[in-house]
Amino acid sequence: MSDNRPLIVGGSKVSLGVLVETDTEFLFSAINNPEVHRFLRNPGRIMYMGDEIYWFRSLSEKSSNDRHFAIIENDGMKIVGVIGVREIDWINGTGIIGYFLSQDKWGKGFATEAISLTVKFCFATLNMRKLTSSVFEPNKASAKALIKNGFSECGRFHKQAFIREHGFVDELIFEKFNDFYYSDKKAEKVN
Ligand SMILES: CC(C)(COP(=O)(O)OP(=O)(O)OC[C@H]1O[C@@H](n2cnc3c(N)ncnc32)[C@H](O)[C@@H]1OP(=O)(O)O)[C@@H](O)C(=O)NCCC(=O)NCCS
Repeated sequence: MSDNRPLIVGGSKVSLGVLVETDTEFLFSAINNPEVHRFLRNPGRIMYMGDEIYWFRSLSEKSSNDRHFAIIENDGMKIVGVIGVREIDWINGTGIIGYFLSQDKWGKGFATEAISLTVKFCFATLNMRKLTSSVFEPNKASAKALIKNGFSECGRFHKQAFIREHGFVDELIFEKFNDFYYSDKKAEKVN
């Protein structure tokens, strides 16, 4: 963990910080927990330390269309998860949000707050127009954390992915618009 890690967005229980190379040890252990991997797109995948280092180093490419953050627990200032927006389309102002927490930190409202902070960063700092996310239907906690942040379900792919102990499940698609683009305030500004 880094003592001098810059924080980008502060919250009450968690904050978003810059990822540092020593976080790869956390990533390696958290993501290889089969329970953390259960509802991700490739649940049988094993992540090697080399994969984590490669992924971390790819974040600093200048042309990157992703923004990823360490989720930092304010009490102790240690990394507890990762949240990010990928495939940012700078023309249309869209991106896809994704996240995970180490299992010992589930159920404390951390994901709900981390999503809120990421939305704030994307809308207020990057001036993005819209965020999307998708959740496999049995992942109730993830869907709830999105809904609590004002995401709404806008469609689903039926029987899209195989999840252990659930079989083929639906993938629910969520979206959230930046109100600024669709409010009177924006109209006033444009006119
Ligand atoms: C999904 C995940 C990020 C949720 O993180 P979290 O910090 O535990 O979520 P929160 O504590 O903010 O909880 C969100 C809501 O879901 C509820 N919830 C938690 N577990 C639940 C469950 N098994 N069933 C139903 N609701 C659940 C919580 O009670 C909370 O609602 P509330 O505030 O009304 O009580 C975490 O479980 C995780 O990292 N899972 C593995 C990776 C993953 O699935 N990522 C998302 C891929 S789409």
